[in-house]
Amino acid sequence: MPKLGVNIDHVATIRQARRTVEPDPVWAAVLAELGGADQITVHLREDRRHIQDRDLEVLRRTIHVPMNLECAVVDEMLAIAEKTKPEQVCLVPERREEITTEGGLDVIRHFSRVSDAVQRLTAADITVSLFIDPDLRQIDHAAKSGAPVIEIHTGAYAHAFGTPESDQRFRAIIAAANHGSQLGLRVDAGHGLTYQNVVPIARIEQIRELNIGHSIISRAVLVGIERAVREMKQLIH
Ligand code: PXP
Repeated sequence: MPKLGVNIDHVATIRQARRTVEPDPVWAAVLAELGGADQITVHLREDRRHIQDRDLEVLRRTIHVPMNLECAVVDEMLAIAEKTKPEQVCLVPERREEITTEGGLDVIRHFSRVSDAVQRLTAADITVSLFIDPDLRQIDHAAKSGAPVIEIHTGAYAHAFGTPESDQRFRAIIAAANHGSQLGLRVDAGHGLTYQNVVPIARIEQIRELNIGHSIISRAVLVGIERAVREMKQLIH
């Protein structure tokens, strides 16, 4: 059974909508841990649109499960990772104007930059994962870079789910998972996974860990709303 990494970025998105202190993503991480999360994942974006530097520091001192920091392959982020020392860093591509991470890292194009980052983080005792599309050539280069882990981008599969294209996208993920594991890589997956589309992915034997954020946080908002309203109503009375 794959482990579950819970991405809490969007708790911070709600907080940043008002630049206030609630909801605190660190508090959410503790509750996620109590719910059975095997790992807490956060993406520190260069524009700090959700997770803030303070969140990383407090999270590092608070959670008991491993921390997975997603970040771009830029010097500022690598230095923050070295200082924070999460158990794992997942290197992702980042474009400022995107709504979320849109594609996998192009390890072929940025091979020397990625390999240098892998070496630098490995020297700091951090396990490095590369977030890549289910593309066999990218996986070959990920292995050559020295990274021990890949996270397969499931966004295209998630987007196509329920359409005729879905099967082809799913088969690409299976092929990528097989290929990665044959090369000796640990294979994880994530992005766009929901309560509707997760089961076929969770059944893929080679996949060790799933990182899921938006869907879990979306559901948490809805399942919690009745209690939240009741509590406010009681106070008003
Ligand atoms: N994995 C990676 C590498 C990501 O960048 C993200 C989004 O931050 C996720 C998983 C989680 O994606 P989602 O929020 O769609 O579940």
